[in-house]
Amino acid sequence: MTNIPFFSIILIVREKRLATILYADLTGFTELTSTLGPERIAEFVNECFRTLDSIIHIHDGTVLRHEGDRVMAIFGFPKSHGYDSYSAVLSGLRILEATKEITQSMGTHLGIATGEVICEDGNVYGPVIDTASLLEEKAPVGEIFIDKNCYELNKNFFDCERLLENNNEFYKILTEKKIKRQYENQFLDRKDEFTKLRDLIFRSEKLIFVTGEPGVGKTRFVIDTVEKINQDSNRYNFLQTSFLTTKSRQSYEPILKIVRALKPDFKPDSGVDLVSEAYNVKIHNQLGEAIFSASKIKPLILHLQYFDRVDKISLKFFKFLVNNIENRNTILIFEMHEISKSILDTLQSVAKSTIQTIALPQLEQTIQIKIASELLSEIDVSETVLKQITRCAGGNPLFLSELCSYITQMHSTGITVDQIKIPYRLKEMFNHLIDHIPQDILTTLSTAAIYGYKVERNSLDAIIPDNNDAIKYALANRIVETNDGDIAFVNPFFRDELCNRIPESLKKEIHRRIATTLREHISGPDIDKKLAYHFRACTDYEPALHYGLRWAKKMKDMHATDSAIAAYTEALDITKKSDGKAERSILVKRVELLNLAGRKEEEKADLGRLAEIVNQENEEELYEFLLAKGRYLESVCEYDEAIKLYDGYPDKEKRVKVLERLGMVYYCKGQFSKTIETLAQALALARKNYRSLKDTRAISTILISKFSKL
Ligand SMILES: Nc1ncnc2c1ncn2[C@@H]1O[C@H](COP(=O)(O)OP(=O)(O)OP(=O)(O)O)[C@@H](O)[C@H]1O
Ligand SMILES: [Mg+2]
Repeated sequence: MTNIPFFSIILIVREKRLATILYADLTGFTELTSTLGPERIAEFVNECFRTLDSIIHIHDGTVLRHEGDRVMAIFGFPKSHGYDSYSAVLSGLRILEATKEITQSMGTHLGIATGEVICEDGNVYGPVIDTASLLEEKAPVGEIFIDKNCYELNKNFFDCERLLENNNEFYKILTEKKIKRQYENQFLDRKDEFTKLRDLIFRSEKLIFVTGEPGVGKTRFVIDTVEKINQDSNRYNFLQTSFLTTKSRQSYEPILKIVRALKPDFKPDSGVDLVSEAYNVKIHNQLGEAIFSASKIKPLILHLQYFDRVDKISLKFFKFLVNNIENRNTILIFEMHEISKSILDTLQSVAKSTIQTIALPQLEQTIQIKIASELLSEIDVSETVLKQITRCAGGNPLFLSELCSYITQMHSTGITVDQIKIPYRLKEMFNHLIDHIPQDILTTLSTAAIYGYKVERNSLDAIIPDNNDAIKYALANRIVETNDGDIAFVNPFFRDELCNRIPESLKKEIHRRIATTLREHISGPDIDKKLAYHFRACTDYEPALHYGLRWAKKMKDMHATDSAIAAYTEALDITKKSDGKAERSILVKRVELLNLAGRKEEEKADLGRLAEIVNQENEEELYEFLLAKGRYLESVCEYDEAIKLYDGYPDKEKRVKVLERLGMVYYCKGQFSKTIETLAQALALARKNYRSLKDTRAISTILISKFSKL
């Protein structure tokens, strides 16, 4: 160890820590002197050093000194960022690029080493300094040599060449690793989506949802886009993680995968328990800090696959991350099948900007044919067969890839393409499987399939007791998978095929059985929705309508306006299928929600239909219609029409609400004396009606708030 003054141990605070030392040597000055002259040279050298220093600084390193043509810097002191050696190597590469840009005739060579150093009073000591210095001297111009310690910490990030000299092992940095090509075929189409995602990334939009049905090519699209962006400059760090749950998963596991990739030596502080289920600010801070601080060195894109399956604990963490993402160089790409409203709401509630969305539609058939022909390029396949294959894959590239590899495999065993009977192949595969399922197991699976793509274990137990063997069989054959107590079909097409095989009458029976069992035994947040669905499917319209309306009301009470509108639309459909009696009352409710949601065109259409079916003899119905129509007129600012409407209502003097609305319309028009007059009338009527104490208060409040200033 070099030079540690003995007394300093007592007098000055000393610190031992892991750090990375970088030496960079500028060469080629001698040749320049003849062309530039000594004064310009000094200026020029200074400028070069300024560039080097700033590169080191940007990468969180500290320049310790300039020795002639050399710069010596330390990473990990005075503050460690947890990825110090990575920053050192990265800045080394940037220095090489920068000096090349400044002038052709000059160059740099660098040595980098990682090890323990002693720091005291701004000075640094340790054998690693000599190692870095020696490596720098050894490295030819334009190259970086690193020691074994530094290599071990960075081998995942850089391609290196191993070198050996007198039994001493060290490494030459070749390049920064790029994303590995994972796919055999070329990525086709998606030009508009590519431009959109690229622009969002360049604009530094932090939150991006990429959606599309299973297998449509979401993952591939994200990877290819980032790859293309990175092609020239390798500007972004790109990391992926997946939220597809496996049973044994530990909380924070998908997030730790990212953090460990950024900081191989990440360990949570003592006292922080990553296995604990509880929300923990400390954990969030440490994981979040690891991600954000790494993104300072190089902007980071995190690709979060299957985010619709995110667990509660991870979602809370992402809420934290989103809340703090402003001004950070981190972009989150959430990949999902469809946008989950609750996830969207959770994240949007803390986001400082609107979450951006890119929805991937199915690929055009011509593109799919191109993909198939590329995947089958080794076999001679006609255009017709290619078409058949794509049709068979149902517009799904994932299926298409699987089919093509199946065909290639068959082909290699000597079976020709025509013999494979491709259009029926999928159906065949599934039906073959279904044919071999024992009957009692098939009954359970059919019930599960009719129930939905996913069924909760307790519901299935109630509908079909003793289903253990069936589930075991289905799990073993990869027909279903389990996930937090749910049972889900692995392949949605298989589920469809299973449903297709059940005769209509039996299907109805199963729906009825599901509905009646659920009604008796199961409760849950969306039980009314399920009951409505199954009762409707077995044409029991009366209970279907009953539960459908309950579901709609629940959505309305929860202020989930769009869901409530959808639920009333569903209810409307059901009532039309039966006697249609409820149409008017459902429309009245839907039109109110459409007004709230600002969906003017639909609101107008509903009002039109209501006008047709309102019973002119029935005062209550007329009154409800009047309020709905008035609400519409007010919201499109047609005040004169609204006044005509309210004023023309024959029973105006009996309805507090009508007077109150009328007063408010006058107010909006600025006719204040009319307002006071009408509201006073409303107030008097409310008092007289006596029971409407609430109305009285409300109107008084309006009067006071609007006119106290006058
Ligand atoms: N535009 C495309 N050009 C070529 N191949 C494609 C294209 N889109 C998708 N593929 C291929 O289709 C397969 C499925 O794609 P990918 O895994 O990206 O789908 P996904 O939507 O992410 O699926 P999941 O819903 O399971 O996450 C891959 O083999 C991919 O290479
Ligand atoms: Mg995917």
